[in-house]
Formats: sequence, C-alpha cells, structure tokens
Amino acid sequence: MTMANIIINGQKISTKAGITVLQAAREAGIDIPTLCDHPALSAVGACRMCIVEIKGQRALQTSCTFPVTDGMEIQTDSKMVVDARKLVLDMIFSERNHFCPYCEMSGSCELQDLGYRYHVDHWVFSTYTKAFPLDATHKYYLMEHNRCVLCGRCIRACDELVANHTLGLGQRGSESMVRADANISLGESSCISCGTCTQVCPTGALFYKRSAFMGKDSLTTKVKSTCNQCGIGCGTEVVTRGGNVLCVLGDWDAPVNKGLLCKMGRFEPLYDSRQRLTAPLLRTKGKFKEINWEEAIQTLAKQINTVKASEIGVLAGSYSSNEALYLIKKLFNEKLKISNIGLTNTVAPRIFDKVQGTLEDIAKSDVIFVVGCDPLNDQPVASFIIKRAVDKGARLIVVDDKKNGLAPFAFMNIDMADINKAIEVAKRANNPFILYGAGITKTAIAQIKKLKEKANYIIVDSGVNTKAAAALGLNNGYDPAGLKILYVLMGEQNYEGDDLFKGIPKNAFIVAQASYLSPLTERADLVLPAAIWSEQNSSLTNIEGRIQNINKAVEPLGEAKPDWEALQLLSAELGKNIAVSIDKVSTEVMKSLK
Ligand code: SF4
Ligand code: SF4
Ligand code: SF4
Ligand code: FES
Repeated sequence: MTMANIIINGQKISTKAGITVLQAAREAGIDIPTLCDHPALSAVGACRMCIVEIKGQRALQTSCTFPVTDGMEIQTDSKMVVDARKLVLDMIFSERNHFCPYCEMSGSCELQDLGYRYHVDHWVFSTYTKAFPLDATHKYYLMEHNRCVLCGRCIRACDELVANHTLGLGQRGSESMVRADANISLGESSCISCGTCTQVCPTGALFYKRSAFMGKDSLTTKVKSTCNQCGIGCGTEVVTRGGNVLCVLGDWDAPVNKGLLCKMGRFEPLYDSRQRLTAPLLRTKGKFKEINWEEAIQTLAKQINTVKASEIGVLAGSYSSNEALYLIKKLFNEKLKISNIGLTNTVAPRIFDKVQGTLEDIAKSDVIFVVGCDPLNDQPVASFIIKRAVDKGARLIVVDDKKNGLAPFAFMNIDMADINKAIEVAKRANNPFILYGAGITKTAIAQIKKLKEKANYIIVDSGVNTKAAAALGLNNGYDPAGLKILYVLMGEQNYEGDDLFKGIPKNAFIVAQASYLSPLTERADLVLPAAIWSEQNSSLTNIEGRIQNINKAVEPLGEAKPDWEALQLLSAELGKNIAVSIDKVSTEVMKSLK
C-alpha cells in the first residue's frame, strides 16, 4: 500500500494514496459536509457540497471523488469553500419545494441540517414554482418529487446494492425527475419493495408511508437487532417512539446485510394483520378461558407428569430462538427423555464435510449455482448479493424443477435431472459457489459431490432458525401416532393448517406456544402467548452459522412472553431448573455447529 503525506487545514496526515480526500479527512476526524455521497454507494460528485480547496488546482474540487496524492495541501473550510457551499445550498433550496415545516423529514433531513449549518435563512434566488407530481402508488413508501434534490443516491442504491435497476433519471435540466422503469408509477414498476432507496434518500423526497409524521429522529429510539423473517439474519435498527415500533431500518454496520433489507424484513412485519394472542388460554368445556401464566404452566406440568415420555411429541417452528431450541433439547430431550421431536420445516441435507463459506464469498465467485432453493423469494437479501455478482460478470446457473425467482437472471436454467451439464461449466470455473436447499434431489447431490474440492458452498435451509435446530439435533422427525400430548412451539410462524394434525389421536392434549391466532391455536387445548421479533431478547443462528442477537425494542403485548422464558418457567415447574443465558446458549449452539 502506497502512503501519502498530506496536509488538511494545516494538520499533517499520513494516509493511503488513492483514497478520496473525503475519506482521508474523515479518517483524520475532519468533517466535510456531503449530500449526494453515501458510504455504501459509489461516489459521483453530483451535488458539490463537499467541495474543498486543493493547492495547485484551478477550481474547487469535490472531495468525495478527488483522489489523495502525496504532498497534497487541502483547505476544507476556507472562506472561498464556505461561500461556494452556501451558493450550492441557496440554489438547491430555490429549486422545488423545500418548505421544511410541511415536510415529513423535517428534523431528520440531511439537507435541512446543511441549511442550518450554513445559515440558509432566506431565499437568495427566486423560488421555482413548478409543481412536480407526488407518486403515492407504492404500498410502502412515497415519492415526493418536489423535495428531490437529484442527488441520485436512490438510483445508485437500486443499481449497486439491490441490483434491481428500477430507478433512473428522466427528462433534462430543471425538469429532471427520478423515474421508475420506462417512466411508470412506482406501484406498477419492477420495484421489489426492499426500501433501500428510501433509507438512503437525504431529503423528504422518499419516505415510508406507515411511519410518516410520527416523529423526527430526536424523538425516537433506535435499537439494533436482527431480522427474524428468514435465515439470512439481516442486521436491523428498530425505530420506536412511545413504546411503538415506527419503522425498521437496515443496519449499515451489520456484517451480513451491510444495511440492506428486503420487503419481508423492512415492511411486512409492520403490516401484519393477524390477531395477536395476549393471554394464556385454557380450553374448558370446549371454550377458551383466559388464565394466568402460573395456572397455565401448572396445568401443563401436570399433564406432562401424567403421561409417559413416549406419549409426548414436540414440534418446533422455524422462528424459535436459539434459547428456546436449547431448552427444548435440554428439557424435553435430555431431562424428560422425549425423543419424538421434530421441526415444522425441512432441513437440507449436509453434503460436504468441509466448512461452508459466507454470503460475502459469493461476490468472489465466477459461477454461482442455485440448487433446490429460491433465494429471491425466500432469502431476498442473498438474492441481491447474487444479482450483484451477476452484474459484475459472474454466471448464474439455476437448477430447479420448480419455478425459481432467480431464473430470469440465470445464464442457464436446468432441471435437477440435467445437473451434469452445469457441473461441466463449474469444472471450468475458477471459483464456483453453490447455494443449495432442501429441494435438492439425490441425483443432484451425487453430481454436486464432484465439485467437493473446487467449490465453495452454503446450505440455504428453509425457514429462519433451522441451522440451529438441526445443529442441536432437533430434526429427527416426529411421529404423531399414539401421542397424548403435542407441544408445538410455533411462535410467529404462519400456521397454514396443512398436515400438522394428521395422524394425531383425537383426544391428544395440544399445547400451542404462538404469537397469533390460527387454526393451530383454535385446535389447541392450552395456548401460551409468545412475544414477537420486537419484544424479546434472544438470539438466532443464520445460514452462515453466525449467532446474532435479537434485542427488545418494545414491551411484549399483553401477557405474551419470549419463547424461551415460557419454556424456562415450565422447566422450573417440572423441577428441572435449566438456566439459560444468551452466552451459554451461543456456546452450545456453536459447539453443535462444528
Ligand atoms: S424499494 Fe428497492 S427495488 Fe424498489 S426502487 Fe427502491 S431500491 Fe429499487
Ligand atoms: S429521491 Fe432522494 S435519493 Fe433520490 S435523487 Fe431525489 S433526493 Fe436523491
Ligand atoms: S433477507 Fe431475510 S433476514 Fe434479511 S431482511 Fe429479508 S427477511 Fe429479513
Ligand atoms: S457529496 Fe461530493 S459532490 Fe455530492
């Protein structure tokens, strides 16, 4: 690495040659204002807010694009620089409608902050009066073109991070507008509702509908957590005010998703219309009666004590936390000697005996295999990573007998039976990467084993915390025949009412630990209300094997309790007293993962 000795505002700095002046300044703790720049996006030098004076340069230069060279002398706050920035702001504020008091982002707006910083307290130029349209057609967010400063962050986010290429710039000059596809409304466009454009917008041009006008930044609290809607485990920031969740943002510091979220993680949990369960319910004479937790746990313990271990079955749903899965293993399997324990979703076979790769490794591969899994629909942020690699030249091969969301992006779409054709391509590749799921067939397994030495891989299990459940040995298969008690830890999972009760004796006592009313809870004899993603401290294991914390952002609704807390109460009532701590569980899950 070549180093460069530079001077910024008289301060001697030793930095890497070739990084931008903005990066060098930030590393040295020197603040330069920006608007179109975003750390996760390529620099384009569009807004000119970051201009600086560089000795020897005839004009002011945009620090976000100007590379550092040895001996450079830079002024970031000279009168010339400050005056020029003020002029830039005067022009931006004169264009379109920036009447802050009427804007949803007032108080949380980068442009407004710059206005305060540079004392923009009146219009120097006459204001532009043309009214631009407002696009409210998208279900989750709104595009107010009158607040747009044409910084292009949204366009670059959709292109470079999501690889969806929905947004572009239409018209020219002062008429320029961000447009979707061939200038159609966002609601009709190819947008996949990841919300990334909205998160990067520095003004009130793009904002979430559900949290609009509910509170500027200084009135809200942000809690870092982990999305529990699929096995990727994206890092989130849950934004709350007054005990309510306003919105969910992607955490730019999270190693898995680096700020990205998908529709399932960012929006859908906030639009969940299922009815929550808020108190323990006991079926008495055919009807549910609300009871307290003490009574619920005592009733359950009594039931368990009256039957043999072989007459008890346990089913764990995919949303179960590491802590709950650990307790199922310790309490039901190890202490109560119950072996009839299964999962509500399927586990992909373990094919290779080497350590699997990470999602980040996908970017380094030249041929990507997607076999028997559908990341675009089931683990969307993984599909963004795959599509980005394809944009950069990697070849995607989709092997699936079913319709696959990534098929339109593939250079080869083949059935499982023809996988040998793809193996030949992979043999010629430098760094093949395989993502496979539970849909992989025996033929495909036999073929894929041929890539054992060469390919990196990742198992894309279905559901959420399947990796931990499998690691803890909870996927031995459950048999409903002869059961007297069935304990179902469903949590937030949507029970579709298919084959859960097939073969189960009619008079079996069914316990449902669940967050929402469903055909499962309606069939249950005892219902234990479970807290949801925003209401508990726990952890999850993602498809890479990373253990990540879910942090409580709001209090549980009614009497709902975290999944593991209810199981811990039961273990105490049964005299087993199993202690649970996130560290202890992480160690146990990590041990099992190896
Ligand atoms: S929500 Fe996502 S896919 Fe849709 S336009 Fe924005 S960045 Fe692109
Ligand atoms: S919508 Fe926002 S992010 Fe996109 S160009 Fe306009 S101001 Fe920039
Ligand atoms: S990819 Fe999965 S973990 Fe990430 S935001 Fe979407 S649902 Fe959540
Ligand atoms: S931040 Fe550098 S030009 Fe916009």
